[in-house]
Amino acid sequence: MTAVELLALPDLELFARADHSCRATFGPSVFLRGLLEVSNRCVRDCLYCGIRRSNSKVRRYSMGDDEIVAAVARGHEAGLRSFVLQGGEDPDFTPDRLARLASRLRQRLGEDSALVLSFGTMHKSDYQAIKSGGADRYLIRFETSDEDLHTRLRGSPLARRLSAIDDLKALGFEVGTGFMTGLPGSTEESLAADVALAASIGPDMIGIGPFIPHPGTPLGESEGRGLGPALRAVAALRLLLPEANMPATTAAGSVAPDGRERMLAAGANVLMPNIGPVDAKRDYELYPGKICLDEDGLSCIGCLSIRAMTVGKRLDRSRGDSPSFERRAALARSRESGPRAEIAGRHNAEAGRHNAEAGRHNAEAGRHNAEAVTHSPDCAQGA
Ligand code: SAM
Ligand code: SF4
Ligand code: FES
Repeated sequence: MTAVELLALPDLELFARADHSCRATFGPSVFLRGLLEVSNRCVRDCLYCGIRRSNSKVRRYSMGDDEIVAAVARGHEAGLRSFVLQGGEDPDFTPDRLARLASRLRQRLGEDSALVLSFGTMHKSDYQAIKSGGADRYLIRFETSDEDLHTRLRGSPLARRLSAIDDLKALGFEVGTGFMTGLPGSTEESLAADVALAASIGPDMIGIGPFIPHPGTPLGESEGRGLGPALRAVAALRLLLPEANMPATTAAGSVAPDGRERMLAAGANVLMPNIGPVDAKRDYELYPGKICLDEDGLSCIGCLSIRAMTVGKRLDRSRGDSPSFERRAALARSRESGPRAEIAGRHNAEAGRHNAEAGRHNAEAGRHNAEAVTHSPDCAQGA
């Protein structure tokens, strides 16, 4: 079915089909990613973003490398195996520095953890440097498929963002993209176009969140469209790209108390507790009403476990590569070692997926009780 046809389905049918597809690939597993918002400084001025350069009310911060390594190490000790470092386009985070930081983190984490970066658009050679340093995934949303709107909102063309995505894919990154729903001027047709563009990119990860107007931005007076379009986009993309990892986003939880659970029930399979310092979380205010600002991200995990259980899912702390990426990586490895190994590589990639699935279920089973005990009562009230 096409994006238009999927989005025309009644919500309940669309969500049920997407949930079925998600469980067929990932079972009840919900991968955890520890998120660190390392800098709210940015040279860019995207009209939608609360930390845009021109918002003089923002108290700016930029974490040091030691602080970042310590926060990631703490998450690793708590059993997390996938970490996302995200920030504005901060001139202090040069590609060289990011490459050195990635290399330090890789030494600390070993190979069983994924290291994901999200710092916007860079030159291909800079992406290459951070990949050589040890980063293995990159997130970069295209934000909207409408070329005029994209240029108006971001001050640079959609084509530039798309060529960055091409570069990342060519370099062998596990690549994530996505978009905001409900941007001013968006329609049912533009939602279908966004879904179709995301599907055509063939990413390994897709992040979709509702646009939430920030009063300190030029779009502060516009009206948000709530959770509905984001849920429908997630569900449609789950059906178009069954193997992609898709987070139930913080923005979804910020527009509706049960937004993340509803996204998990509509095809999402990832949650991203924010493991950064509490002060940093408050100042990384992309939009108002952001959740989990006062909690230590590690204590969110207990809460997230209960939220996942309400929709019949359970947390999984493993690095959780997408099956599409695992296959590509296995093929690339086997190509390096000749044609025979290539055929074996195809088989191994398939077998590895099944084993990983079985292992995940066993590993997670023992954690449920402990997590239920540490769940945050304040957050449960919010739900
Ligand atoms: N600077 C990098 C970039 O732009 O790709 C990464 C950080 S940026 C803050 C991460 C994401 O935040 C963006 O891709 C955008 O989709 C989202 N975002 C920004 N402002 C938002 C808003 N007002 N409502 C919802 N999401 C927002
Ligand atoms: Fe900067 Fe990213 Fe915000 Fe744009 S969306 S202003 S690039 S942090
Ligand atoms: Fe953060 Fe509930 S998920 S406190």
